[in-house]
Amino acid sequence: MHDEPNDHLVRAGAFSVEEREAVYRAIRTRRDVRDQFLPDPLPEDLIARLLDAAHSAPSVGFMQPWNFLLVRDAARREAVWRAFARANEEAAALFDGEQRETYMRLKLEGIRKAPLGICVTCDPTRGGPVVLGRTHNPRMDSYSTVCAVQNLWLAARAEGVGVGWSIFIRTMCCAAFRPMWK
Ligand SMILES: Cc1cc2nc3c(=O)[nH]c(=O)nc-3n(C[C@H](O)[C@H](O)[C@H](O)COP(=O)(O)O)c2cc1C
Repeated sequence: MHDEPNDHLVRAGAFSVEEREAVYRAIRTRRDVRDQFLPDPLPEDLIARLLDAAHSAPSVGFMQPWNFLLVRDAARREAVWRAFARANEEAAALFDGEQRETYMRLKLEGIRKAPLGICVTCDPTRGGPVVLGRTHNPRMDSYSTVCAVQNLWLAARAEGVGVGWSIFIRTMCCAAFRPMWK
């Protein structure tokens, strides 16, 4: 192996002190928001910035397996909430007595309260059967999608927008919703 000359590269300089502090502040103060959503609709240009941040995430073999589906329709959002409620009941049934009561008191979603729902999916077929780096660890597509969600979450924090992540939906339910999202 021989080293190529690096003369053509531009050095990746550090951010200014203020810029660095802003990045670390977004990381430190990001929270999972479940209840305190305002009903105000999000401006389209702000949504575009959040999605742009998500799409800038790293991905295995650059396969970018994610989809971000904006769910605005009230009936669809209600259907998503019902799917959550079913999965949540199943989860609660795993506990008894006091533990179940404690579980039932947890607030685990803000699906109906937030002004915008985003359904994040991961397409394992994107990029074809062979994707660089994924061959020996197929779960790397999910990892990549999670990186995209985290990017969106941090960008939202910087924009002053609350984001909550709700995973309490069976894959089977998601499959049932899929025709509605076409
Ligand atoms: C993969 C993943 C799935 C999550 N699913 C849920 C969920 O279904 N419901 C929920 O209320 N929070 C969910 N969370 C948020 C965590 O509960 C939350 O991040 C954790 O309690 C730490 O709180 P913080 O994000 O405010 O620091 C999820 C987080 C991750 C990373």
